[in-house]
Amino acid sequence: MARPSSSSSSMAILALAFLVIFTSSSSAQLSTNFYSKSCPKVFTAVKSVVQSAVSKERRMGASLVRLFFHDCFVKGCDGSILLEDTSSFTGEQTAGPNNNSVRGFNVVAKIKSQVEKVCPGIVSCADILAIAARDSTVILGGPNWNVKLGRRDSKTASLSAANSGVIPPPTSTLSNLINRFKNKGLSVKDMVALSGSHTIGQARCTSFRARIYNETNIDSSFAATRKKSCPFPGPSGNKAN
Ligand code: HEM
Ligand SMILES: *[C@@H]1O[C@H](CO)[C@@H](O)[C@H](O)[C@H]1NC(C)=O
Ligand SMILES: *[C@@H]1O[C@H](CO)[C@@H](O)[C@H](O)[C@H]1NC(C)=O
Repeated sequence: MARPSSSSSSMAILALAFLVIFTSSSSAQLSTNFYSKSCPKVFTAVKSVVQSAVSKERRMGASLVRLFFHDCFVKGCDGSILLEDTSSFTGEQTAGPNNNSVRGFNVVAKIKSQVEKVCPGIVSCADILAIAARDSTVILGGPNWNVKLGRRDSKTASLSAANSGVIPPPTSTLSNLINRFKNKGLSVKDMVALSGSHTIGQARCTSFRARIYNETNIDSSFAATRKKSCPFPGPSGNKAN
């Protein structure tokens, strides 16, 4: 009777091996059908909330795209930007590139609760951000793409990482921009294409006033147009498309 016992123990070893492989591989491939069995309704759930948020305020589509970018550039697309400060860490939300600037957290919370209704405990917030950014882009008339899924949510966030310059400031030189994207595996072409996302949304005058008033390597009629909506000296709260 040695056979059954040895085959059941090799089954156990096999099961253990799978367990080890699947729980220890943090670099597993993302896939477009990650939730096709566990949460096929995720796409309609996310889209309905994004649609209603963008109908209320078109800019929200832009804000959701940027939220995804700022999440991804700090330690990967792990939802860490969504984490509020706790007693054990100060998160990313008050970092220079984010404070009083990134928005859309309430919409993400609404999406999450809608997704939890259709499949509780399945979909990561990091994946929700990725889907919401795509849906926003499509709703505002941009390109469509299939979103690869399977990201895991971070349990921590880091203010210092978010402030370290990995999200390049608007005062960056071209070579800094190129390097910051290169560090994420993105080419110059990728960077230019992704920057096209600035055709939607708004920026605070404080983000670009110095450039339109003091720099010469900028299209002068564009600078003149921008100066109208961003007088100097002028109110600090102004924004421009
Ligand atoms: C290339 C380097 C980049 C720089 C230096 C940069 C800088 C900025 C700045 C300064 C603002 C205005 C923020 C404010 O005043 O509150 C802004 C807004 C925005 N950025 Fe970028 N950005 C970059 C790349 C990207 C990328 C890769 C994306 C997405 C693919 C993106 C999406 C957006 C969007 C959609 C807005 C408007 C957000 C809103 O209206 O809420 N940006 N960016
Ligand atoms: C973030 O913005 C708030 C509100 O304007 C401000 O009080 C705070 O000092 C800012 N935090 C940082 C780290 O800049
Ligand atoms: C332009 O540069 C001058 C001189 O450095 C400075 O005083 C002024 O504040 C700058 N203007 C803006 C809008 O940043």
